[in-house]
Amino acid sequence: MATVEISSRAHSGDPLFADIRRDPPKAHPSAPAGVWSATLDCLEFIHAHAGGKVTLETGCGASTIVFTAVAAAHTSVFLGPTEGEVVARWCTDHGVDTATLTLLAGSSPEVLAAIPPDPIDILFIDGCHAHPFPQLDWYLAAPRVRADGIVIVDDIQLPGPASLHRFLRRDPRWELLIDAGYWSAFRRAAEWDLSTEWASQTHSVDGLDRVRHLARAPRRLAAMARNARNAQRLGVAPWQRASHTPRQPLSSHSAEPDAG
Ligand SMILES: C[S@@+](CC[C@H](N)C(=O)[O-])C[C@H]1O[C@@H](n2cnc3c(N)ncnc32)[C@H](O)[C@@H]1O
Repeated sequence: MATVEISSRAHSGDPLFADIRRDPPKAHPSAPAGVWSATLDCLEFIHAHAGGKVTLETGCGASTIVFTAVAAAHTSVFLGPTEGEVVARWCTDHGVDTATLTLLAGSSPEVLAAIPPDPIDILFIDGCHAHPFPQLDWYLAAPRVRADGIVIVDDIQLPGPASLHRFLRRDPRWELLIDAGYWSAFRRAAEWDLSTEWASQTHSVDGLDRVRHLARAPRRLAAMARNARNAQRLGVAPWQRASHTPRQPLSSHSAEPDAG
């Protein structure tokens, strides 16, 4: 029998992990072992921290089972409806009570925006890994994380999750608890909301970004010069010129009759 593709490092010994390894929930048919599971140490972290908590994850699979098994009031948001069915069946077959589990199929930006923004203790981001989905998941769900609550970002070896990880690592409002290489966890260490403008984000994302920023300086200078030249030639700044330009109708259908 295929085993779930999780690290074989020592684990807590909870029979749940042995069950998952022996009989992986085949939620993702395209995965070699039937499930694109988080690594075992990540599942163990969830197991150790989620007991009895209010939790939310994007994605569905072995992690959903672990959240459910420790009686978290857990919500999983995932793309394919069959994933939820597979996980629910696995739980029933292995004696995991699903009374506290809510399975929501749909794309996470739409689903997360539609559900009530009640406080949560743990947010696990492991849905679509393409930019900007990890950022959207964070944007829509992280404001719900209580003070001292935890955000886990999975697959930080990939560019989309990595940029979220790097950003949080430098943000003083989020304290890095663990950087495990493939995933990381942060504690919400301060009050915050989404009204932050760029000027109050004084941290650079990382050293390389500073270099990239400097490397773009010639392009910015050229743009500044171009804008200045244009303004001089026209005699007015472009935004002044716009106010003198007669408004064009959007299309022939929306054109209003000429009042003159
Ligand atoms: C790597 S798997 C999650 C694995 C799971 N955390 C585990 O430990 O077994 C990625 C998940 O992202 C979900 N996903 C992909 N695109 C999504 C989207 N746009 N919205 C929500 N979930 C999405 C898939 O349905 C899949 O469950």
